[in-house]
Amino acid sequence: MQYSDRILNTPSSFIRNILKVTEANDVISFAGGLPNPISFPLEDIHTSIDRAMKQHGAKLFQYAATQGYLPLRQYIADKYNRQYNLQVHPDDILLTTGSQQALELLAKVLVNKGDGIIIEEPGYLGAIQAFTLAEPTFYPVTLEEDGLNLEQLEHALQQPNVKFIYTVPNFQNPTGLTYSLEKRQQVYELVSRHDVILIEDDPYGELRFEGQHLPYIGAGKLENSVLLGSFSKIVTPGMRLGFIITKNKELLQHIETAKQATDLHTNIFSQYVIADYLLNNDLSQHIQKIKNLYKTQSDAMLQAMATYFPSYVSYTKPQGGMFIWATMNDGRSAMDVFNKAMEQKVAFVPGNPFYVQAGDVSTMRLNYTNSTPEIIEEGIKRLANIL
Ligand SMILES: Cc1ncc(COP(=O)(O)O)c(C=O)c1O
Repeated sequence: MQYSDRILNTPSSFIRNILKVTEANDVISFAGGLPNPISFPLEDIHTSIDRAMKQHGAKLFQYAATQGYLPLRQYIADKYNRQYNLQVHPDDILLTTGSQQALELLAKVLVNKGDGIIIEEPGYLGAIQAFTLAEPTFYPVTLEEDGLNLEQLEHALQQPNVKFIYTVPNFQNPTGLTYSLEKRQQVYELVSRHDVILIEDDPYGELRFEGQHLPYIGAGKLENSVLLGSFSKIVTPGMRLGFIITKNKELLQHIETAKQATDLHTNIFSQYVIADYLLNNDLSQHIQKIKNLYKTQSDAMLQAMATYFPSYVSYTKPQGGMFIWATMNDGRSAMDVFNKAMEQKVAFVPGNPFYVQAGDVSTMRLNYTNSTPEIIEEGIKRLANIL
């Protein structure tokens, strides 16, 4: 068989590949990136399924519009206008099969082979995968404690045919880092001087358990702003519901065409059910429960790291989201540590797949949302022994 260069050059997800071993029963896993299932509002969703079926019957199972179910788009517009003062209209929104699909569609619509994509380094693995299918030239820009390195960003913006900048401004995957207010303003000023799209992918923004909420970098201000949202981390991921918000009508139209070719429309059963759930429950109350849970888990991991980790390991202190990023400042290989850790039945994700040019790295991603504080402490102790 002769396969396309596109697929041959796209890495399969390291995380998904190792999941089979890391999720075995006797392994303490900080490797996954899954929301905690105890946070899923199962009973309320059950009620919504019954109610939506009674109200809408066969419509839950029929083909539907590509852009998405209007009451759900209206809910999203109202929420973003209220919370973020964005002045979004339901027509500025397109529902996607998770925000993951939005990434793939954006690259499909905007990127010709060799065109430039500016991406955070380290960056979200799923975005690297989705973008790689469009055969771009990546311009990685270092993600620092407070956001993108401005000098590198300025340099990257001068490269030929750069189509977009991909950012995760809040509690980034994999690092857990959040852009400071000052860095947001600086990035905005720099980007607004260039003909380039700014993508802000924000699946974790509402999971802030510490500090002040910060405004978006470009959304609501920048003409070429694309904001991505998702219900995966605040309701359930399995329903596969995400969305694109942009005021750029032409771009949205092209995305709609690409989506027609990809899957016609996002699962309409999910859309009806989640719309019913959102309209009949207090989402902010539900999110508060998730934040309380994740803060306890994050505190437990940070506390254990402070107690047991050797001093050559530094790590981020997230104010929300699901991840901590650790750096072994003596330069040892994260893959080596990973292999040793698996022998001791504790797992994490070595940093390698989060860099567009994979090489040996000394970083690791630790997820805290899927273990109890007691198990977190035990896992960190085991890891500390190896380190
Ligand atoms: C930064 C980021 N973007 C997008 C996604 C994809 O989310 P979904 O497709 O479930 O909305 C994830 C999932 O982990 C993520 O971390």
